[in-house]
Amino acid sequence: MREHLLNYITYCETFFIKMKPTFERLPKDVVPVHYELHFTPNLADFTFTGSSKIQIKINQDIDRITLNSVDLKISDVLVKLENGEVIKSTETVNITESEIANFLFEKLLPKSDNASLEMSFEGELNDKMKGFYRSKYLSHPELEERYACCTQFEATDARRCFPCWDEPAIKATFNISMTIPQDRVGLSNMPMIEEIKHDNKLKTLKFSTSPIMSTYLVAMVVGEYDFVEGNSDDGVHIRVFTPVGKKDQGLFALEVATKVLPYFKDYFQIAYPLPKLDLIAIQSFAAGAMENWGLITYRETMVLVDKENTSLIRKQNIALTIAHEIGHQWFGNLVTMYWWNNLWLNESYASFVEFLCVNHLFPEYDIWTQFLTDMYTPALDADCLENSHPIEVEVNNPSEIDEIFDEISYNKGASVIRMLHNYLGDDDFKKGMNLYLTKYQYRNTVTENLWECLEEASGKIVRNIMRTWVEQKGFPKVKVIQNVQEDNHRRLVLEQTKFTADNSLDEKSFWMIPISISTPKSENAFTTVLDKKEIEITIENVSANDWIKINPSTIGFFRTQYTSEMLEKFVPAIKNLSIPPLDRLGLHDDLFALVQNGSNSTVESLKLIKSYSNEDNYTVWSSISTSLSKLKNILSHTDLTDKFNAFGKHLFTPLSEKLGWESKPDETHLETLLRSLILGKLVSFKDEKTCEEAKRRFYLHKEGKQILPADLRMTCYRGVLQNADEKVYNEMLELYRATDLHEEKDRISRALGSMSDITLLQKVIQFAMSEEVRTQDAVFVIASVAINPVGRDLTWNFFKENWKILLDQYSGGFLLTRLVKHVTENFASEEKSVEIEKFFKHHEFAGAERTVQQSIETVRLNCKWLQRDIAEIREFLKDY
Ligand code: BES
Ligand code: ZN
Repeated sequence: MREHLLNYITYCETFFIKMKPTFERLPKDVVPVHYELHFTPNLADFTFTGSSKIQIKINQDIDRITLNSVDLKISDVLVKLENGEVIKSTETVNITESEIANFLFEKLLPKSDNASLEMSFEGELNDKMKGFYRSKYLSHPELEERYACCTQFEATDARRCFPCWDEPAIKATFNISMTIPQDRVGLSNMPMIEEIKHDNKLKTLKFSTSPIMSTYLVAMVVGEYDFVEGNSDDGVHIRVFTPVGKKDQGLFALEVATKVLPYFKDYFQIAYPLPKLDLIAIQSFAAGAMENWGLITYRETMVLVDKENTSLIRKQNIALTIAHEIGHQWFGNLVTMYWWNNLWLNESYASFVEFLCVNHLFPEYDIWTQFLTDMYTPALDADCLENSHPIEVEVNNPSEIDEIFDEISYNKGASVIRMLHNYLGDDDFKKGMNLYLTKYQYRNTVTENLWECLEEASGKIVRNIMRTWVEQKGFPKVKVIQNVQEDNHRRLVLEQTKFTADNSLDEKSFWMIPISISTPKSENAFTTVLDKKEIEITIENVSANDWIKINPSTIGFFRTQYTSEMLEKFVPAIKNLSIPPLDRLGLHDDLFALVQNGSNSTVESLKLIKSYSNEDNYTVWSSISTSLSKLKNILSHTDLTDKFNAFGKHLFTPLSEKLGWESKPDETHLETLLRSLILGKLVSFKDEKTCEEAKRRFYLHKEGKQILPADLRMTCYRGVLQNADEKVYNEMLELYRATDLHEEKDRISRALGSMSDITLLQKVIQFAMSEEVRTQDAVFVIASVAINPVGRDLTWNFFKENWKILLDQYSGGFLLTRLVKHVTENFASEEKSVEIEKFFKHHEFAGAERTVQQSIETVRLNCKWLQRDIAEIREFLKDY
């Protein structure tokens, strides 16, 4: 046995496999019932002290209590028994790697239903945007540098703020109080019930008792804020907190939130259970937003709307984000996943219902079409990789938990729920959700519980179908292997196989696929659940020239491969727009995916794209643009960039001439989005006329003569920066410094990466790492350089040289995975993939392991794609 172990260790060392500490779940011999927590943050020296009284249940006689704690100094630990007896702890043993504290007692603690565990603790208000952390801001109007403090606990960082049973299934109630300066606002999950002013310029705020909830949803904020307030129809007090002097920027969020609450109340048939809901903009914030019960925290750009300076696409994202986090108040907060392997129950549902809700509130957004480009396609792209993972995936270590906040848990999860919603119909789906939420409220669930409720409500098979989507990675390709016209009907043979990014065969995987088919004569010509490898079906009332669309509205989570003869039949319908937008989008997107995995040729898809010349739908163009960017990226490793730019100009110019630069008086939301997309594309294809106009408008804007509409700013900034010299670069920095709107700072700093001068790009990276850019934003500035072919090597080298600083800054957060992905995945050669692999073998990036593997795989796929199709593409581009 020992020998075995030694061999194994040598094996691991040889291959640089570092064994991660095993994480054990907390013992359940002692569990909390209620926490009384008091905090005193010190905003001058960035420390805090706290004390807790936790009502506990001791399930058996025991001489130690184990709970989670990290980076806290704990003292005065004792247990008070029901009879008043006090048993002091003799020692606290912290096990840092396991994020655990063990309190040892000299005397056995007797089994008890009502004991009290009491202690004091202190910690740092850190600058890592997790746990209890500090957030820098400039005061209004003096512009003094000051700090607020706030919490971000999901997934496993409540333990950095107070010692606790930090697992989602160990729910308890909370009474929170805080002592803070009198001139600061203090907020928590629940409404304040008492304010006591002290002589020393401090005050103590006490908040009412929370419902039974998970630790990761506890929240506090202390700082200087203004707010706007209102009541939702159903009587919930809603406030939106903004930086001082900017309360108008909270009005849009307030309006949305007051409508979202009643919408969900009606949809789920359960009222929001708290008396208040606060939304607050936090200057330093790692994620986009966080659903803390009753106190939702947001990045500024995810909640603040400035009348003149906020673009429509941002406003739309803000509406989605608000709906997402409010959706969590039911999915996640009221009913919580049992353990993080079921994270998808939280995130997929919130990601699905945000679209349901925004579709209801803002029909003009046509948001379900945008679901395809925002959620569905990125999910398919991520999930065809060998290094993808099942929606439900085993996780133990905190860094493993962090890494699954990804396209699979969010996008694939939301996409398969959309498919399920469609299969069950809205009524039964709603009924099932209501059953689930009612049955499990204030408790925890596993996926199985959801299937049960949906089956009960609908009387349809759910479990057997959904298990094939949730428990295995990947998704199918449905291929038409026979297509025969007989009289007035068509006989088709469909076959399912796994869709793989490298087109490798996988015989083992199999899905139960709800599938439907449409024709020009019938939106719903055929429906079934494809539960075999192969089926033969007959579609009635079809003539020989009719197209047959598999997966109408692109609802099913799979790719479709047609015969070329069938594909050709779509061309007239694409040209005259007689087939619906969701289908036009799906046809292009499926074919392009088949191009990337080598089933079809790139030129075939470029020819299909040319038949979209009359296309007027924003989202269809957005999908085509994304595909062209992928192609442009691999071609940037060749001499074909100019030719490809010419192709792009040719494709987009007619549309830009139709749309112009000026918005029409009563144009639709989608027309505005389309204009900024198309002009943006023309800038990226280096179209001279567009770039010139962009410059002209930029300088009018800069000189205060004619304000640029927010929707066109990114386009103009890029247009100006593409050929910028140092003078222009500095002008941009001036603009960056002049604005105090986070959105505008993002826009400028992310445009900087489009410059063509390598010395200036070097400066951009230095700028990103400077005090002037918040760490949460730097990742995206660096990414903007990395995705520019001129900056690609530069950024990768910077990353390799500064890995220690970057790792320290971003460790254990999802920003780390974003950074790793952006700086690595755009290469396209075997040597680079080997280099990346080697680097990460020698430098451990905990929490980015899967991302690294995905990047290496992507680089190899890029390389193969290029080798496979380059000659043919060269030939095709000759005409441009
Ligand atoms: N629960 C998450 C926040 C979160 C993300 C916590 C990652 C821990 C790690 C929240 O509900 C969320 O999903 N936020 C999104 C924005 C949303 C609109 C998709 C985010 O932060 O990106
Ligand atoms: Zn979420």
